[in-house]
Amino acid sequence: MLNDFILKTVNLNKSFRAEKNFFSSKTSGIKAVDNVSIKLKNGDVMGIAGESGSGKTTLAKIVSGLLDYDSGEVFINDRELKNYSRYELSKKVQMIFQDPFSSLNPKLSIGTAITEAIKTQNQNLSEKAIEILNMVGMAPDTMQKYPHQFSGGQRQRIAIARALASKPEIIIADEPVSSLDISVQAQIMNLFLDLKKTLGLSYIIISHDLNLLSAVSDNIAIMQNGKIIEYGQSEKIMDSPENPYTQRLISSILTINV
Ligand SMILES: Nc1ncnc2c1ncn2[C@@H]1O[C@H](COP(=O)(O)OP(=O)(O)O)[C@@H](O)[C@H]1O
Ligand SMILES: [Mg+2]
Repeated sequence: MLNDFILKTVNLNKSFRAEKNFFSSKTSGIKAVDNVSIKLKNGDVMGIAGESGSGKTTLAKIVSGLLDYDSGEVFINDRELKNYSRYELSKKVQMIFQDPFSSLNPKLSIGTAITEAIKTQNQNLSEKAIEILNMVGMAPDTMQKYPHQFSGGQRQRIAIARALASKPEIIIADEPVSSLDISVQAQIMNLFLDLKKTLGLSYIIISHDLNLLSAVSDNIAIMQNGKIIEYGQSEKIMDSPENPYTQRLISSILTINV
């Protein structure tokens, strides 16, 4: 089926040059993303897990168009990411960060931040912004307030509203709940699922919390040293992981939760 996959990478590679230091004259590269091929099906949630430094954020930034890559291909629908204009891409993919402060300008009221993102659409801007805030469970008086006036969970809701304002089809969420209280983590994850139903979104959600991730993901990819070392249906990965590294990741959450 054409367009069965809304996002796809083929043999994607990205290296960072390590800093030169006193002890080495050579600059050795860090392979942050190493030959990664992923396929996100339209309407699916793909979870990505793996320890810190395994390349998750680098991969997320590349497929969001925020970071260049060295080789390989990225497709959104059937068109190469490189062939999208910035504006076109903003209507396809939006990224949500761990710290919602980084996606919200502290000097802009929430109303201004959201209406800026919908400026291009011919609708009453504040009416539309209020409607989007409502979708993420925030009251109309949010419009006049500033980021610092909200809790972490509320700020993440606002960051999601701002991302939704461009009417994207894909949301890439990088550790979206890691900085939040445990009590609100599930609420934000559930918000993602609600929005998926009402807006027909597709997601890539990155988290080191495999329990949370498996509750929302159709498929899970495990990353280690820039590579996807295991990929499969959520339940399959959780119930019978094949790779020893995945097995260790899962047994470590079992130990913590005892
Ligand atoms: N801008 C950068 N410059 C140099 N090295 C980087 C940069 N961004 C990431 N890296 C390195 O790339 C690897 C993967 O990082 P990252 O994608 O942030 O992993 P993760 O999100 O899984 O923690 C790490 O070794 C990290 O130090
Ligand atoms: Mg990261």
